Order: sequence, then C-alpha cells, then structure tokens
Amino acid sequence: MSEHEFPPTSVKQVVLAVLGGIIAPALVIFLIAKLVFGVDASHTPEDAKVAATQAEERIKPVAQLAVAVVETGPHVDKGGEEVVKGVCSACHAVGALGSPKIGDKAAWGPRIAQGYETLVKHAIAGIRSMPARGGNAELTDGEVANAVAYMANQAGAGFKAGK
Ligand code: HEC
Repeated sequence: MSEHEFPPTSVKQVVLAVLGGIIAPALVIFLIAKLVFGVDASHTPEDAKVAATQAEERIKPVAQLAVAVVETGPHVDKGGEEVVKGVCSACHAVGALGSPKIGDKAAWGPRIAQGYETLVKHAIAGIRSMPARGGNAELTDGEVANAVAYMANQAGAGFKAGK
C-alpha cells in the first residue's frame, strides 16, 4: 500500500480537469440565463407597446377605408318613399297631432293648393305642430322635398320631386 500506486497526474490531465470544471458550469449558467431572459424579453412593456402598434398598423387600412367611404362618398339624397317611411309616416301615416294623413285627399287638398314650394318650405322649417324636417335634422332639403312630393302625390298632387 504505497502512495506510488497512483500514476502521477500529468499536466494535460490538470488542464482538462480545470477546463471541464469551468466550461461545464459556464455553459449551464449561460443556457439558464438565455432561457430566463429569452422568455422574459417578450413580456416587457416595450414589447407590449410594439405589439399594440403593430396591431394598429395592421387594422389601419380597414379603419381608413371606412372613414374614407364616410367622408368622401358623395351624398345621394334618399328618395321620397324612403324618407316618408323612415321619418314622416310616424305622424302622417296615422294623422298624429292633426297632421294630414297620407292619401287623405280632403286633408291634403287645401295644403296642396298652397303649392309645392310653400309646402317644402313649411316641411323644412316646420309649421305649427309639424316639426322642422319632420324632427330629423339630418335630412337634406332635397330629401324633405322628395318626401313632400311623395306624400302630396299620394293625395293626387302630381308634384315633381326636386328642390
Ligand atoms: C311629429 C309628427 C310629424 C312628423 C314626424 C312629420 N310631420 Fe308633417 N305635419 C305634422 C303636423 C301635425 C302637420 C300639420 C301642421 C299644421 O298645419 O298645423 C304637418 C303638416 C305637414 C305638411 C303640410 C304643411 C302645410 O303647409 O300645410 C307637410 C308638407 C308635411 N307635414 C311634410 C312632412 C314631411 C316631409 C315629413 C317627413 C320628413 C313630416 N311632415 C313629418 C306632423 C309631423
């Protein structure tokens, strides 16, 4: 049992042992750090901001198109029938508030006698219980005029729609 049973450690073995002892843990630390920071990086506030901006960029064309259609689309006046059905008939279909009922020749006769222009003026500005533009401020003069012609014509006026 002597100390000489172990072969003497060579310089090469020492170098390998030292290198292995340093490189292996360094590699493990490097991989753990990469894992931790790599995963974390995608959750920083900056990344959230970038993601939001990218999402905005992606939906922008659609939003701009929608605005463009609303802003630059030429306004086309609705026809008399559509306006009457959507707005005026609320009163005029049933004669509410003493309004001349659609198709009631006796009620419309004296009004038609005032002339198309006067009726249109009254319908736009309102008269007595008749609210201006039938209470819908979004109607254009042309649309109100179309509606007046449509309603009066139901009582035989023979007006040509237009303003
Ligand atoms: C809130 C109820 C109401 C609505 C909605 C309404 N009207 Fe009237 N309208 C009246 C009443 C009430 C009169 C009768 C007013 C009077 O002569 O005292 C009238 C009268 C009129 C007259 C006759 C005016 C005159 O000089 O004799 C016209 C034309 C007319 N309305 C057009 C319209 C048109 C067009 C619309 C839809 C855009 C409309 N009205 C919507 C209540 C309404």
